[in-house]
Amino acid sequence: MVLPGEQARLYRPRPELLPAAHVPSLPHYQRLYQRSVEEPHEFWGDIAKEFYWKRQHTGPFLKYNFDVTKGKIFIEWMKGATTNICYNLLDRNVNEKKLGDKVAFYWEGNEPGDSTKITYRELLHKVCQFANVLRSQGVKKGDRVSIYLPMILELVVAMLACARIGALHSVVFAGFSADSLCERILDCGCSLLITADAFYRGDKLVNLKHIADEAIRKCKDRGSSLKKCIVVKHLGREEITVDGTCSKSPPVKRLCQDVQAPWNPDVDAWWHELMSGASTECEPEWCDAEDELFILYTSGSTGKPKGVLHTVGGYMIFAATSFKYVFDYQPEDVYWCTADIGWITGHSYLTYGPLANGATSVLFEGVPTYPDVGRMWSIIDKYKVTKFYTAPTAIRLLMKYGEKPVKKHSRKSLKVLGTVGEPINPEAWLWYYSVVGEERCPIVDTFWQTETGGHMLTPLPAATPMKPGSATFPFFGVVPAILSESGEELEGEAEGYLVFKQPWPGIMRTLYGKHPQFETVYFKKFPGYYVTGDGCRRDKDGYYWITGRIDDMLNVSGHLLSTAEVESALLEHAAVAEAAVVSHPHPLKGECLYCFVTLREGHEFTKNLTDELKKQVREKIGPIATPDYIQYAPSLPKTRSGKITRRILRKIAKNDQDLGDISTLADPGIIKHLFNSRCDTKQ
Ligand code: WT7
Repeated sequence: MVLPGEQARLYRPRPELLPAAHVPSLPHYQRLYQRSVEEPHEFWGDIAKEFYWKRQHTGPFLKYNFDVTKGKIFIEWMKGATTNICYNLLDRNVNEKKLGDKVAFYWEGNEPGDSTKITYRELLHKVCQFANVLRSQGVKKGDRVSIYLPMILELVVAMLACARIGALHSVVFAGFSADSLCERILDCGCSLLITADAFYRGDKLVNLKHIADEAIRKCKDRGSSLKKCIVVKHLGREEITVDGTCSKSPPVKRLCQDVQAPWNPDVDAWWHELMSGASTECEPEWCDAEDELFILYTSGSTGKPKGVLHTVGGYMIFAATSFKYVFDYQPEDVYWCTADIGWITGHSYLTYGPLANGATSVLFEGVPTYPDVGRMWSIIDKYKVTKFYTAPTAIRLLMKYGEKPVKKHSRKSLKVLGTVGEPINPEAWLWYYSVVGEERCPIVDTFWQTETGGHMLTPLPAATPMKPGSATFPFFGVVPAILSESGEELEGEAEGYLVFKQPWPGIMRTLYGKHPQFETVYFKKFPGYYVTGDGCRRDKDGYYWITGRIDDMLNVSGHLLSTAEVESALLEHAAVAEAAVVSHPHPLKGECLYCFVTLREGHEFTKNLTDELKKQVREKIGPIATPDYIQYAPSLPKTRSGKITRRILRKIAKNDQDLGDISTLADPGIIKHLFNSRCDTKQ
């Protein structure tokens, strides 16, 4: 158990452990920070000089408007300068910095023993080849390409190839359903999809091509412009010998599976066939700093996913700089981020940030518990990982199995640990710190969002005294404020809405094709500020503590879902008349879904129906969104104007009788009934 005083205790970094640190002390951080927010043009201008620009910028370094009452919201960093992000990540590292033979990625497959690596030179060649393939398929600057792949090297190759030719990638997490994929393909009007035959996650086979085919069918029915599907032969990558055994030693399961997906020659093409014969040279497309780089979908409180758009120049310098400082990157590091590339963490801190710094990373296809719960620690030892970045949900999961599986492995290479995705509970923080890091490694608890492109609040490993559960202080260029409900800035110790007062280079520029929605969601509530949607507390020492979402969003295992999105999936079932979804605490996932449903006439609430409803949500959104609890409600508590009071439903789910004021409810009688028929934990 964590004692209450523990949260207030400071854990000081031991500078002798990171002697070459970029930021060796708190005053050093404070000096750099001050400059970054007072002279952002000079601060980021100096950093921009470390990158290659085909044409230097001439106009103002930063132009923006954060205030909806003064006109359109816009943010422009270095507009007029031209560059190519792929050129900066690969060509320069190979040709100028002579890192051609350095390993860019160690790829570790789902099965232990199934691994490979790729150097910067090899990666450059593959990316050029695939960029040529894309061009030969008619993909041009500004076109959208959807990528639906497991954690394999081709995923990185495909993203960078898009970036090289100025096409926008939209990576869709390979755990999403056909419906979710289809929705995302349609929203950005993409012309080409890249997927794979199949893959294993732990011992579960995911037949990706089948799901992709279903999505393509659905898209076609809805008039999509998708023309082509490029398929990576992943599971069937290696030859299988005549007697059906693997030709590789040790035999790995993926090689022994022959997954046959139906083939549509009008649409489908094999990746390896298109690549064979493609040139390893490819002139990059020179893009404006403010040209679009990628779209990444994140849940929105309206229920429809939002296409967050990032642009070339600002995102590049922000991902690169935050990676360098937050992980205190050093050339000899082996860095491992366990996030899937389908999320922003995998974009900024597995792909763009590390490659911009010439880092060596581990790319892991599998899961932490397969083939056993020591897998993470065994990978850390295998590659001598120095910097390790994971999510609180993974830490809590592994904590459950105790110290033994951790202690079986040495982990002595580790220097810095990181977490991201949700508030980390102090108990998990302390376990991570003392058991995994043996009190030797600082923990960087990084608060940020898909929309912010990179870290917003975070310790720096050799500089910031840590408090378990606090994301501590703002990163360079970030000016946080805490606002009251009425929009007043609160000073000193305070709790309220977390907002940011001025742009940093990595901020999103719009929601793809939906600028008015972008303005409404992030800028309307408090004119002049970017609104995160998170609650936050500042303590007496100025430390920031994220208290969780304050909109209708919930955070399941570090991934945001909107209650509206799950409700609309439930409502598509013929038996459901009304649905209300609230978040509920969960020991491993952080939060989980607790759903209330009212039924249409003639339907009965049975075990069968709950199973069907769970399946329906899984199919519509993906396994992440599977509800933990579904409770029958004869009716839902509503205000007199008919708005469902989720605040009260959250309390019912938790069995918290302290409801506060319920006088605004139209029918307070229903509450007692809902308390009496709560789901217990057996479901
Ligand atoms: C939301 C953003 C950023 C990459 C992963 C999630 C929550 C994220 C932390 C943290 C407390 C955190 C916030 C945020 N969150 N990191 N270190 N401490 N909360 O990206 O899906 O865009 O979710 O995740 O609620 O708004 P995302």
